[in-house]
Amino acid sequence: MSNEVTAVRVALVGKGGSGKSAIAGILARALAQQGARVLAVDSDPMPGLSLSLGLGLVDAPIPDDAVEEKAEGEPGPRFRLRTGLSALDAVDRYAVDAPDGVRFLQFGKLRGHSASLMRSQLAFRQILDDLPPQSWSVVGDLPGGTRQPFYGWARYADTVLVVTEPTAKGLLSGRRLARLALGDARPGRLAAIVNKVTDPGDAEWVRARTGLDVLAAVPLDEAVGDAERHGAAVMDEAPDSQAVAVVTSLAHRLTEDRVGAGIGS
Ligand SMILES: Nc1ncnc2c1ncn2[C@@H]1O[C@H](COP(=O)(O)OP(=O)(O)OP(=O)(O)O)[C@@H](O)[C@H]1O
Ligand SMILES: [Mg+2]
Repeated sequence: MSNEVTAVRVALVGKGGSGKSAIAGILARALAQQGARVLAVDSDPMPGLSLSLGLGLVDAPIPDDAVEEKAEGEPGPRFRLRTGLSALDAVDRYAVDAPDGVRFLQFGKLRGHSASLMRSQLAFRQILDDLPPQSWSVVGDLPGGTRQPFYGWARYADTVLVVTEPTAKGLLSGRRLARLALGDARPGRLAAIVNKVTDPGDAEWVRARTGLDVLAAVPLDEAVGDAERHGAAVMDEAPDSQAVAVVTSLAHRLTEDRVGAGIGS
């Protein structure tokens, strides 16, 4: 048997600064180290995931000529991927290489007016909608807050993880995002990751207050902040850190849960 593992698709959502990008960077690389073909995707118009992956600052939006305008009267968004360009082709062309064999796809960083990203954003969404289920494991990093999650920006994910700090403010955001379980953008599975944990009771506190299963409790770990200050990946700077160990276990668990559920097989 090859070392190919079942594809998992996760998206990380949460309050600004809760640790989505830091965890997404470790998770993407941990899954890749475990044998998965990983596409790390960034729909935050501010910098984040590329740094956490160890790529430095990358601003490589999907080029305008990847999309074409639809004919008058066609339903849905105004643009679609250019005729003949499949989602898999687009990943080959427009995702960039990251450490551990991860590929990184983004819709671009905000420099001018947000309208300048519109084509790239539509291409990004269509690529993720059209990716064949077993082709890539996907780890997605969303911007902070509730807007993108409630507008379906995480719909490529079978598991949406709400990154929650064990603070009163963190819990309020976690509870708002827990309502994704009820809305139109409802994911297959919604669960929490508690981040910056300092007390053994933190995970249970978050579970009780949000109603979400807690899949991992990531400690407050100064190795994460140190790597961040250097613009480097904690996976490179401190591979033996506690944060990396916990997120690596999470990567195993996500894969095992998926195999156990027979999803995509
Ligand atoms: N487990 C941790 N231990 C210590 N510091 C952490 C941990 N996780 C994240 N941090 C720190 O918290 C800050 C925010 O992390 P990060 O940028 O990953 O959050 P985010 O949710 O992606 O933020 P944004 O909403 O702005 O995109 C960073 O300074 C990061 O180093
Ligand atoms: Mg971020």
